[in-house]
Amino acid sequence: MDYLTVALAKGRLAELAMDIFSDIGMDCSEMKEKTRKLIFTNEEKKMKFILVKASDVPTYVEHGAADIGIVGKDTLLEESRNIYEMVDMGFGKCMMAVCGPKELKGKYDKITNLRVASKYTHIAEKFFNEEKGMTVELIKLNGSVELAPLVGLSDVIVDIVETGKTLRENGLDVLEEVYPLSARFVVNKVSMKMEKERIMDIVEKFKERVEG
Ligand code: PRP
Repeated sequence: MDYLTVALAKGRLAELAMDIFSDIGMDCSEMKEKTRKLIFTNEEKKMKFILVKASDVPTYVEHGAADIGIVGKDTLLEESRNIYEMVDMGFGKCMMAVCGPKELKGKYDKITNLRVASKYTHIAEKFFNEEKGMTVELIKLNGSVELAPLVGLSDVIVDIVETGKTLRENGLDVLEEVYPLSARFVVNKVSMKMEKERIMDIVEKFKERVEG
C-alpha cells in the first residue's frame, strides 16, 4: 500500500486537524511536540503528515506532493488551484472583510481610486470589480495589514477578522463583509481516482465528525 500524504497548514488549523486525525484513528499527535520536524509518518496507517505554510497547501495538493490538504477557504479563494474541495470542516471560522477607520463606515465606497491593502489581493480585486463594480488601487502586503490605514499607506484593508481584537486595538472597524471563511478538506484530482476508497473513507469520517 502506498503512503497517503496530508498537508496541514501550520498553526491553529493544523492543531485542530491533528486532533481530528487522531480521533479517527490516524494518530499524528507527535507533530504537536515542539520540534522542527516537518514530516511525520504513521507507519501503521501508511500515512505521512507534512506541515507547510498555509498559502502553500493548495500548491502541494495540486502538484500531488500531498494527496489531501487541510487549509482555510481564504487561501483556496486566493490561490484558485485545480483541486477538489470536499468538506467544510466547520472550524477556523472567521470572515474576510473590508476594514478601515470607523469614520468611513457607510461611505468608504464613495472614495475615488480607493487604495486597498491586503495579503489577499486576488480576493480583494474580485470583490471590488465584480461585487462593487469599482476599480481600486491594490497594495500587496504580507502581514500586519491593519497598519496600512494607520500610516496612510491605504484607505482600507481587506483582511481576515476572527475575534475583532486586532481591529479594536488599532481603532479600526469592519466596513463590509466579503466572505465567510472556515477550514476545508481538499484533495488532489489524480489521488481521488487512484486512492478513491481510502480517501473517501477519510472524507466520510471527517464529515461524520464535523456534522455529528
Ligand atoms: C490574522 C489577520 C488579522 C488577525 C485577525 O493575522 O490577518 O490580522 O489575524 O484576528 P482577530 O480578529 O482575532 O484579531 P495573523 O495573526 O495571521 O498575522 P499577520 O499579521 O501576519 O497577517
